[in-house]
Amino acid sequence: MVSRYVTLLDSHPTHLDRLMVQTPALSLSTYTEEARAEIDAALERYTAFETECPDVLREAIRHSLLAPCKRLRPLLVLMAAEACGCDRGAAIPAACAVEMIHTYSLIHDDLPAMDDDDLRRGRPTCHAKYGEATAILAGDALLTEAFRVLANDIAPAHVAARCCVELAEAAGASGMVGGQAADLAAEFQGGDVQDLEAIHRRKTGAMFRVSLRLGALVAKAADEQLVALDTYGRKLGLAFQITDDLLDVRGDEHAMGKRIGKDADHGKLTFPSLLGIEESQQRAASLIEEACSALTVFESSASQLEALACHIVERNR
Ligand code: IPE
Ligand code: IPE
Ligand code: MG
Ligand code: MG
Ligand code: MG
Repeated sequence: MVSRYVTLLDSHPTHLDRLMVQTPALSLSTYTEEARAEIDAALERYTAFETECPDVLREAIRHSLLAPCKRLRPLLVLMAAEACGCDRGAAIPAACAVEMIHTYSLIHDDLPAMDDDDLRRGRPTCHAKYGEATAILAGDALLTEAFRVLANDIAPAHVAARCCVELAEAAGASGMVGGQAADLAAEFQGGDVQDLEAIHRRKTGAMFRVSLRLGALVAKAADEQLVALDTYGRKLGLAFQITDDLLDVRGDEHAMGKRIGKDADHGKLTFPSLLGIEESQQRAASLIEEACSALTVFESSASQLEALACHIVERNR
């Protein structure tokens, strides 16, 4: 490990310049480029569906899943596995499973009955291109396929079973789906920071947290590593969604590949609407500092997780 300290953050130095991280052996951009290529190749194989899948359904699934995007959750799976001493190849099926669930959640999030969006990942949303029925079914297929991938391709079987249970809990009624329901129910209703944190913890945080847990489970992590990743994941998930809320106010549609200004149109409860831009930024930055502090048990093996955390609040897409 090179003991050189750099700030990874240049876009908002006034809030984030206290976040100094150790330079990882491989830069974050090189690491993510290589890991994304592995994730994308596996997703491509998993969705070739050479048997009985109708052509339009396969196209709709691949339109959304294989579109250019950040792949943050699968990257977290791989980074967590590596931080716990495992080769990232063993965690690729788990990385693909979380990305399938995430993409299904986006397809459904964009439907007219939910956020009613027409642009996602720089492409027309699934329903805008293929119609609502096919978009709903593409989401259903991805949700189902995620559990097939885990059950079939994670070894040994007891780890696969544990991964299925944890992913179901994070994605289901008490996790992401519950958070999405609460997000919709809060439209034009108002609420306080506690209400909002409860929404964000479920709709977004649960999938961040489980991504790290699946990587750790595949790597047969020690309890103290799981506890550290849990703390990191909870803080990171909230900081990520605060940043998403901020980007909806002041991001660039072209860079983000999705519409902006929609949260205000829909009367969503968000951090900038409750606290303003400045305080929301500060909160995200503090959460990232706390998230990175939780990683000390890993020493240098978590340097990519640390770098990714800093990137998540400084991103422009
Ligand atoms: C978008 O997630 C949905 C939210 C939880 C805010 P990302 O910003 O990670 O989107 P992709 O996966 O890169 O498209
Ligand atoms: C979506 O949150 C969260 C999930 C899809 C689970 P948002 O509605 O804020 O995401 P964007 O802004 O449309 O990407
Ligand atoms: Mg939404
Ligand atoms: Mg949305
Ligand atoms: Mg949003």
